[in-house]
Amino acid sequence: MAKHKTPMLDQLESGPWPSFVSDVKQEAETRAKNEKGIEYQVPADCPDDLLGVLELSYNDGETHWKHGGIVGVFGYGGGVIGRYCDQPEQFPGVAHFHTIRVAQPAGKFYTTKFLRDLCDIWELRGSGLTNMHGATGDIVLLGTQTPQLEEIFFELTHNMNNDLGGSGSNLRTPAACMGMSRCEYACYDSQELCYNLTQEYQDELHRPAFPYKFKFKFDACPNGCVAAIARSDLSFLGTWRDNIRVDQEAVAAYVGGEIAPNAGAHAGRDWGKFDIVKEVVNLCPSGAITFEGGKLAIDNKECVRCMHCINTMPRALRIGEDTGCSILCGAKAPILDGPQMGSLLVPFVEVNKDDDFQAIKDVVEGVWDWWMEEGKNRERIGETMKRLGFAALANAAGVPIDARMVQEPRHNPYIFWKADEVEGGWERDIEDFRKRHQR
Ligand code: HEM
Ligand code: HEM
Ligand code: SF4
Ligand code: SF4
Repeated sequence: MAKHKTPMLDQLESGPWPSFVSDVKQEAETRAKNEKGIEYQVPADCPDDLLGVLELSYNDGETHWKHGGIVGVFGYGGGVIGRYCDQPEQFPGVAHFHTIRVAQPAGKFYTTKFLRDLCDIWELRGSGLTNMHGATGDIVLLGTQTPQLEEIFFELTHNMNNDLGGSGSNLRTPAACMGMSRCEYACYDSQELCYNLTQEYQDELHRPAFPYKFKFKFDACPNGCVAAIARSDLSFLGTWRDNIRVDQEAVAAYVGGEIAPNAGAHAGRDWGKFDIVKEVVNLCPSGAITFEGGKLAIDNKECVRCMHCINTMPRALRIGEDTGCSILCGAKAPILDGPQMGSLLVPFVEVNKDDDFQAIKDVVEGVWDWWMEEGKNRERIGETMKRLGFAALANAAGVPIDARMVQEPRHNPYIFWKADEVEGGWERDIEDFRKRHQR
């Protein structure tokens, strides 16, 4: 028997997509029955009250969460998003409804044992509701009370060997594409680099020391399955710098119709017979491909590694063997001064496990040293880059200025020179000038 009437939410139980309303109702019922005899540490009817307050918000067209909330665990400055309902008498089950961010494994591969153990903790000490996963990557445990925070943290660390994720003005939880685990396009081990940097910078993640938030994301190729270019302050994008490997027999099999283009991704509609000239050669953004006499050839020095030909003929074309990654900097959402995607900072850097990814860590730390001193309060690095200039960022990262850092050169002539680049410097005497030019 549901605690609150939810006529509007009930409408969201129809239709083919999995209904979050049906799922929350199911959890509410499970807790009401309590067949396992659990001593619930937060109100058993917490999910009912969540549906109740959500129904009220649907009616009012307004949120019913109070502003902000500062809670956490000792030793850390982030990881928990505190939240309180603004109608606590009506919905006591969600008077406190804090969210705990839990660090997820890179690529989000799980065993059922791990997930069951996590659910056991959360069933006892939380609402039983989650988000799998937050946009940044974390496992999100959705709704508990302040006294449970240390309890949950103790059990997570002591019983599950798992830490919290990040929140606040710090390094947030890094995330990666599945990379080498199950993708033949992977140019480096994105999961390993993600894991390594997450461990290396635990201090920066748990104790805010930055002007604002900072995110890492790792895509093992330019397809961008974790959308690093749009969603992380430093984006690590796999690429190669030698030649695309071409298997001419497989090319012939595509042309002969034996292999479906794009691995069958467009099979839902009749696009006609595969036409390699129309679908690959003519779509190459660099015009770097030719198909003559049944042979496909690529002018690799003109190739921009866009992935189009490889995506279209994955069994005939493969990434090169001299692989590494590009680093882009500055992506952010619109607030304050407009949205940004990452700008190319390091065109190519090796991803070397043997020296613990030192070349990459040098860039990260150079950029942080600069931004931590120069960044204004709540200024994302993308904004610092706009305010102080891209050259200052490149200098901080220790990378030489390179034509690949710009899409086009500036057209305005407001060009700054350093005094030592200009013969005679800036110190001039007007009297010398007057000797040659009368007033
Ligand atoms: C009350 C809760 C939250 C508040 C007030 C909040 C606030 C913000 C703010 C102010 C931004 C910055 C926009 C900008 O940089 O211009 C942001 C971005 C973002 N937040 Fe949250 N956030 C909340 C919860 C979450 C949660 C739970 C997640 C996921 C675990 C999350 C993931 C993100 C992501 C992915 C971005 C975009 C980052 C970017 O593109 O720069 N947020 N949020
Ligand atoms: C060596 C020669 C010149 C120098 C050093 C010079 C320098 C300047 C400077 C510093 C400004 C102000 C720019 C700003 O801060 O917005 C300016 C504006 C202007 N100059 Fe010159 N100028 C020169 C020759 C000329 C000539 C020959 C003309 C006209 C035939 C001219 C027309 C203008 C106009 C119309 C503006 C105002 C533009 C605006 O505010 O939109 N200038 N100039
Ligand atoms: S980003 Fe590239 S390497 Fe990573 S999963 Fe996607 S296609 Fe594969
Ligand atoms: S990867 Fe892109 S730019 Fe390079 S040859 Fe293929 S289609 Fe052309």
